[in-house]
Amino acid sequence: MSFKNSKVVIVGTGNVGSTTAYSILNQGLCEEIVLIDVNKDKAYAEALDMAHSVYFMNRNINVHAGDYNDCADADVVIITASAPMPKDSTSRLEMLAPSMRIMKSIVSSIMASGFNGILLVISNPVDIMTYYAWKISGLPAKQVIGSGTNLDSARLCCELAKLYDLDAKSVSAFVCGEHGDSEFVVWNSATIGGKKIDDVMSDNAPRTGSATKQSLLKMTAQSGWEIFSRKGNTCYGIAASATSIVKSILFNENQIYPVTVYVDGAYGLKGVFLSVPTIIDKTGAKEVVEIKLQPDEEAALQKSASLLKSFYKELEM
Ligand code: 2OP
Repeated sequence: MSFKNSKVVIVGTGNVGSTTAYSILNQGLCEEIVLIDVNKDKAYAEALDMAHSVYFMNRNINVHAGDYNDCADADVVIITASAPMPKDSTSRLEMLAPSMRIMKSIVSSIMASGFNGILLVISNPVDIMTYYAWKISGLPAKQVIGSGTNLDSARLCCELAKLYDLDAKSVSAFVCGEHGDSEFVVWNSATIGGKKIDDVMSDNAPRTGSATKQSLLKMTAQSGWEIFSRKGNTCYGIAASATSIVKSILFNENQIYPVTVYVDGAYGLKGVFLSVPTIIDKTGAKEVVEIKLQPDEEAALQKSASLLKSFYKELEM
């Protein structure tokens, strides 16, 4: 593996931002990592703590606190800052209004630096925040990506792998649409070791037990809340998801991930940011992959798109 001499800036050094920075650092994906936070002491302390860990890493990486001027020559800027999620929240969409103000300020500051790299949005509600970041930034749509349902898909694959005592990487299943309650699984193309999921579930009834496609989707969509309700955040899964997207960009890998991208024409959708399988390379969202959907899956995708677009009018440009 050839290490890329690239630069990644992370805005927000809360649980998600700091864990994402450390995940990228741990995998030695770039030459420089810059942490930005409105709380400068926090950014400084997180960066200094990580800088000490570099001693034990496979390669030397310059990790430090910085400011928005550092975005000028960054290959990727990751936005993790969002409004705090109230403890009794039941939907990421509740964060829209406060997160919108934060996002507008952050993206305006990033663009003032002359940034022209790839913007990766993690801040929730991520699909709407990604659309908003695109509008505010003025960047070409392919350069603005959201973490979307990449983590949801991983969570589903982990649940299926647990059922059949497998490595989750042997499961191929996409969660698409909104990173939230209207997300759905493309069961039509889901396989385990190349075997269609219906056959796996019926041929292994003792292991499948009471699991159904409905219960698996429910468990996947609830995963984030299962964690959030107990520890007040999620960070490791989302950080690893973001790291996989960043790696495909920096190493020009052409991996296919279900991430939030601008869809206009594909799947019969018009002008909406939501998660569909997408080829990710050094240019960002290189190409949407149109997989065959069953009628119920097409309806679910349209429902997700309509829900997300209904919030666009609330965004202050
Ligand atoms: C999650 O589901 C943070 O929304 C993200 O963990």
